[in-house]
Amino acid sequence: MENLQSRKTLSSLYLLLFHLLQFSSLSLLSSSYTLPDKYFINCGSDSNSTLNRRNFVGDVNSTFSSAAGGQTSAVSTTNSSTTIELYRTARIFKNASSYELEISQIGTYTVRFHFYAFNNLSDAQFNVSASGFSLLSNFTSLKNSPEIKEFLFTIETRKFTIDFKPSKNSSFAFVNALEVFLVPDNFIVNSMIRVSSSGSNSTYDGLLSRVLHPVHRINVGGGALSPENDTLWRNWVPDDGFLYSVIAAKNSSFYSNRPNYQEGGATDYIAPDLVYKTAKEMNIDPGRLSNFFNITWNFNVSKNVPHLVRVHFCDIISSSNDIFRFNLYVFDTFSQKIDPYEVIPQLAAPFYKDFVVDSDDFGFINVSIGPRQDSNNQTAFLNGLEIMEIIGGLSPGLKKLSKTHLVFVIVGSVLGGVASVFLFIAVFVVRYKFRKAKPVENSDWQTIPSPVCNLNLGLKLSLSEIQYATKNFNSKLMIGEGGFGKVYRGTLRSGEKVAVKRSQPGHGQGLPEFQTEIKVLSKIRHRHLVSLIGYCDEESEMILVYEFMQKGTLRSHLYNSNEDLDKSSSESKLSWNRRLEICIGTAKGLHYLHRDRGIIHRDVKSTNILLDDDYVAKVADFGLSRLEALDQTHVSTEVKGSFGYLDPEYFKFFQLTQKSDVYSFGVVLLEVLCARPAINKKLPWEQVSLAAWGLSCQKKGLLWKIVDPLIAGNISPNSLRTFGEIVDKCLKEYGVERPSMADVLWDLEYALKLQQTATHREPHEDSTTDVSWVLPVPSVHRLPSDSMTIDEDGVTVDDFGNTGADTVTDTCAFQVFSQLRIHDAR
Ligand SMILES: *[C@@H]1O[C@H](CO)[C@@H](O)[C@H](O)[C@H]1NC(C)=O
Ligand SMILES: *[C@@H]1O[C@H](CO)[C@@H](O)[C@H](O)[C@H]1NC(C)=O
Ligand SMILES: *[C@@H]1O[C@H](CO)[C@@H](O)[C@H](O)[C@H]1NC(C)=O
Ligand SMILES: *[C@@H]1O[C@H](CO)[C@@H](O)[C@H](O)[C@H]1NC(C)=O
Ligand SMILES: *[C@@H]1O[C@H](CO)[C@@H](O)[C@H](O)[C@H]1NC(C)=O
Ligand SMILES: *[C@@H]1O[C@H](CO)[C@@H](O)[C@H](O)[C@H]1NC(C)=O
Ligand SMILES: *[C@@H]1O[C@H](CO)[C@@H](O)[C@H](O)[C@H]1NC(C)=O
Ligand SMILES: *[C@@H]1O[C@H](CO)[C@@H](O)[C@H](O)[C@H]1NC(C)=O
Ligand SMILES: *[C@@H]1O[C@H](CO)[C@@H](O)[C@H](O)[C@H]1NC(C)=O
Ligand SMILES: *[C@@H]1O[C@H](CO)[C@@H](O)[C@H](O)[C@H]1NC(C)=O
Ligand SMILES: *[C@@H]1O[C@H](CO)[C@@H](O)[C@H](O)[C@H]1NC(C)=O
Ligand SMILES: *[C@@H]1O[C@H](CO)[C@@H](O)[C@H](O)[C@H]1NC(C)=O
Repeated sequence: MENLQSRKTLSSLYLLLFHLLQFSSLSLLSSSYTLPDKYFINCGSDSNSTLNRRNFVGDVNSTFSSAAGGQTSAVSTTNSSTTIELYRTARIFKNASSYELEISQIGTYTVRFHFYAFNNLSDAQFNVSASGFSLLSNFTSLKNSPEIKEFLFTIETRKFTIDFKPSKNSSFAFVNALEVFLVPDNFIVNSMIRVSSSGSNSTYDGLLSRVLHPVHRINVGGGALSPENDTLWRNWVPDDGFLYSVIAAKNSSFYSNRPNYQEGGATDYIAPDLVYKTAKEMNIDPGRLSNFFNITWNFNVSKNVPHLVRVHFCDIISSSNDIFRFNLYVFDTFSQKIDPYEVIPQLAAPFYKDFVVDSDDFGFINVSIGPRQDSNNQTAFLNGLEIMEIIGGLSPGLKKLSKTHLVFVIVGSVLGGVASVFLFIAVFVVRYKFRKAKPVENSDWQTIPSPVCNLNLGLKLSLSEIQYATKNFNSKLMIGEGGFGKVYRGTLRSGEKVAVKRSQPGHGQGLPEFQTEIKVLSKIRHRHLVSLIGYCDEESEMILVYEFMQKGTLRSHLYNSNEDLDKSSSESKLSWNRRLEICIGTAKGLHYLHRDRGIIHRDVKSTNILLDDDYVAKVADFGLSRLEALDQTHVSTEVKGSFGYLDPEYFKFFQLTQKSDVYSFGVVLLEVLCARPAINKKLPWEQVSLAAWGLSCQKKGLLWKIVDPLIAGNISPNSLRTFGEIVDKCLKEYGVERPSMADVLWDLEYALKLQQTATHREPHEDSTTDVSWVLPVPSVHRLPSDSMTIDEDGVTVDDFGNTGADTVTDTCAFQVFSQLRIHDAR
């Protein structure tokens, strides 16, 4: 405590000194910014390499060569012609070594490391630190995939030292290229408002004595920007993958003039023109009475760490200077008015706002924009957004004063698979303990009404017809068996192929459930839902007749359900396009159930998704609790659903929402991608649960590693990235954080478009922390208004020519399911 106090005092003293120094040096040093020309280093090379206006100077025999150089460092080269020149050499450090750079001007510097692990460089494991800040810990670079790590340092010493330290004596460190250059004055300011997820606000002081590590840099409403398009060689990615609801936002039209940079606003070094020339604005539906909603972006970051959040604005959507303001929200709890004309009374004038935001316990930051009642125009927009992790530690000067008090903060922490499984469990427990059960969307469902509905007689089939169809329940025609009874393939006299479910007397449901099931099912017709064709209740039989699905279950096309057999024995090889189409079809079916029928499926899994002759996906067994006939893996009678697909929230609280289906659907998506069961007990324990394993791979950016080898070569990286993000959103721990089926559907269609328009370029160019950044995002325009008419192929048949008395009301269906649910949860 005392140490902390003295440190605080020291650091404020130090800052004072620093500011005095800075002001006094202003007169001596030029305050106008010119593009930097030094410390672009081509590590391990004796020749210079030019990349996007930067001359990377070879460091062999150079003056700034590593201090501990000599015999401890070596160079490594590759001849691969697919690698850009800069990445063909690397400097290798077998012992702790450092680069020492002369600094002639105090200020904030960008420090960028380029790692490209060719040959055996991916075996390297090392720490990187500078000026007492730990930048990378036990860092290992992905093979043949360029990685860039960027930091912002405020340097006020004459020498800046970057240390590389192998993790073990047997290991080594490497780097392909280094950039250290000054950014304009006041690029980062020392103090600003601080916001936490609880909504409290305070002031954050001392940013200049910290290191910033950009983790997200988003060009909202625009495409990916690579270093060549940026004044300071930054990478920007599109925002679509971060949008909570894609329907809420639309891209503003591109602003073709140069943004109107003004004193007091941003400069093109804060963000390049291209960031300010595009934006997302509210997708206002002129037909809707109330257009009062928000646009939200969610970002994954480290847990409980302060971040600098910089939001970029430029009003490219207004046509005149009318009074137009809106709100910016952080975490739903903090709001700030954004009034473009209060900042600069001109159109298209870029400006930005900085906040320090503490991430929450789950590692999230979310930012929203929304309309204000007191504005002439009820809309809002955003052009760009940056999130930079704030790395603690002591500033360079102070380090000398109190070296023993150094506190290193681990950055770039990569959770291992094991760790994330623990995390998964831990989060689970924590939530269970500390959060009260949240109100559920369909809490009404917990009341038990008494359903008094009429049977739909139009679908009644005679027992003799059924006996004809199934050759008197011939066991050769049996295609499934379960707790409910047996399922037979059959052909009606009309020639129609059907699946016949025959309830075993004394098993499964009773007559009332049977009747209600018919009433509900007979009302539902949708291209992506398996239809009920008829029923039979003669002689105490309880038989349901469904349309027959020629190609069987989705699962049988992905892998053999027997874990011992490899997937080559699965029925067919589905292409990625076809898999996406199947997912889209399934999503349409579920979306229809949710939105139009208010029905929760409760058992979404790959064996409940059936394929017809044309591979059109149809969801089976929807909304019904007793029809697991085709599934022998269903164990529990207490918790409805199948292990491996269960919504953690439902599992804990017996709270069933539409978002429970979204969760299960997320697992199905992984199944489709990886072609393996949701639970495979034969695998190492961290891989047993597909949901946990897939999620941990996705979080580490390694999803591509677990893709079904049959399709791995044909997935476009952008499509895979989008797909991975959908999975990630569907599998959120809390239902409220998961998207609706409408949003999932939308995103899947986007993933399909990305696949269809994918251009196959080699992922080698330019710096990036992620291969997918390098690939051009094709100009697919997502027209949000389309989403309102999503199920063009969804047909609702209210009745089958029966009189009004025979039709079942929605309320009735509602009541039916509430009863089933209560029964089940016990
Ligand atoms: C590399 O660039 C530096 C700085 O511009 C220059 O001094 C040097 O002569 C160049 N070396 C070669 C081999 O071109
Ligand atoms: C580097 O310097 C050493 C000794 O000064 C010399 O032998 C070697 O040729 C130089 N290498 C290059 C690439 O200039
Ligand atoms: C790279 O090319 C050089 C000559 O161009 C050759 O000596 C060397 O063996 C090649 N290295 C590899 C790994 O192919
Ligand atoms: C470098 O490390 C090796 C062992 O890994 C050691 O023998 C050697 O003395 C070290 N060299 C220096 C300069 O520290
Ligand atoms: C990497 O491979 C090169 C030869 O290709 C070898 O000389 C070097 O020792 C290897 N390094 C490590 C750390 O295995
Ligand atoms: C880094 O690796 C070293 C040695 O392998 C280990 O002792 C240390 O705990 C690791 N640190 C982290 C943060 O993983
Ligand atoms: C690397 O950093 C980690 C975490 O800060 C630390 O545990 C480890 O001891 C460091 N390794 C070395 C060789 O300094
Ligand atoms: C690593 O090397 C250092 C010095 O080279 C030595 O002091 C230390 O004991 C070595 N550690 C191991 C685990 O070999
Ligand atoms: C910060 O919090 C105070 C109350 O603690 C509140 O009055 C003020 O409006 C908040 N500021 C902002 C910008 O939300
Ligand atoms: C980025 O820069 C390159 C080269 O200058 C150019 O071809 C490309 O169109 C630019 N990208 C955008 C989005 O303007
Ligand atoms: C927008 O978000 C804020 C913060 O969560 C909330 O107070 C406001 O009601 C939301 N507006 C609408 C229309 O949903
Ligand atoms: C509000 O802004 C939208 C988008 O620029 C524009 O289409 C609309 O005409 C504006 N409405 C008013 C009342 O200014």
